[in-house]
Amino acid sequence: MRRVVVTGAGGQLGVELLRRIPEGVEATGLDRSALDLADRDAVLATMQRIEPAAIINAGAYTAVDRAETESEAAYRANAEGPRHLAAAAAAVGARLLHVSTDFVFDGRKSSPYMPDDATAPLGVYGASKLAGEQAVHETAGVDALIVRTGWVYSAHGQNFVRTMLRVMRERPEVRVVADQVGTPTSTATLAETLWTLLGREAPAGTYHCSDAGAASWYDFACAIRELAQAHSGEKLAPVQPIATADYPTPARRPAYSVLDKTATWAITGAAPHWREPLRAVIETLLPAP
Ligand SMILES: NC(=O)c1ccc[n+]([C@@H]2O[C@H](COP(=O)([O-])OP(=O)(O)OC[C@H]3O[C@@H](n4cnc5c(N)ncnc54)[C@H](OP(=O)(O)O)[C@@H]3O)[C@@H](O)[C@H]2O)c1
Repeated sequence: MRRVVVTGAGGQLGVELLRRIPEGVEATGLDRSALDLADRDAVLATMQRIEPAAIINAGAYTAVDRAETESEAAYRANAEGPRHLAAAAAAVGARLLHVSTDFVFDGRKSSPYMPDDATAPLGVYGASKLAGEQAVHETAGVDALIVRTGWVYSAHGQNFVRTMLRVMRERPEVRVVADQVGTPTSTATLAETLWTLLGREAPAGTYHCSDAGAASWYDFACAIRELAQAHSGEKLAPVQPIATADYPTPARRPAYSVLDKTATWAITGAAPHWREPLRAVIETLLPAP
């Protein structure tokens, strides 16, 4: 049995990882109440006690807009956390799989971002996650994979799909930005990719993971509405496209953050087009008529 610790186990990704534990793996999930990543001594003591072969870090401060005014909290979880995890992983000889974000990029490209493209985050969240990546790289002796993803959703937790389904019932019309393009990523794809990278002993380095294809938030919202209406028969509010300039938010976001997954898929096989896992999540969330 390979022992694996999943940190941040109470979040969208953490829950999914623990639902999909591969055969031959004994996984211990630690949510924030069981292990605060910002507590260096606790991180080290926990890993020394469990002696895992690998650590998957699914914990993070993910409130992109709030991070603009809570930068200390964002850096504690997203930069100090991975620093402590990397040090503990090196100390006990565990492999570290750390999850990062497409928001490390500024979005000025118009073709998918490669893992070694220049980073230039636009906001505090992206900057704190980039600091986490750097902290992992700076740790001597750590065997680490950094897996960047974006636009994550699942049937549980806080995400765009669940928010859209709620507001499409509450409002006569829903306005969604059409000039930010990325790729929706189900936690199913992300969790499977992480377990596969670990199981196939992928070389250390930086990887990209999302579902296949690309979409604007407007396209994503339209697909949610279409799939939800088709499945449940319920009439939902129509979606209107708007520009980012018409929907000011505290944090700036990249206009384009599609990730190139060639290197990841060479190891894991290709992910499905983003509509497929979206359909599965909608069918879980909504009863059929
Ligand atoms: N969600 C997205 O769209 C998205 C996009 C790109 C990348 N990612 C990355 O994907 C990974 C998983 O994200 P997710 O969507 O599963 O996020 P999530 O649902 O917000 O889960 C993150 C979990 O981390 C926990 N956490 C926060 N601070 C912590 C700390 N100091 N110590 C231990 N746990 C802590 C949170 O606990 P509390 O709830 O108690 O705070 C939460 O349970 C993260 O690395 C995130 O940066 C996510």
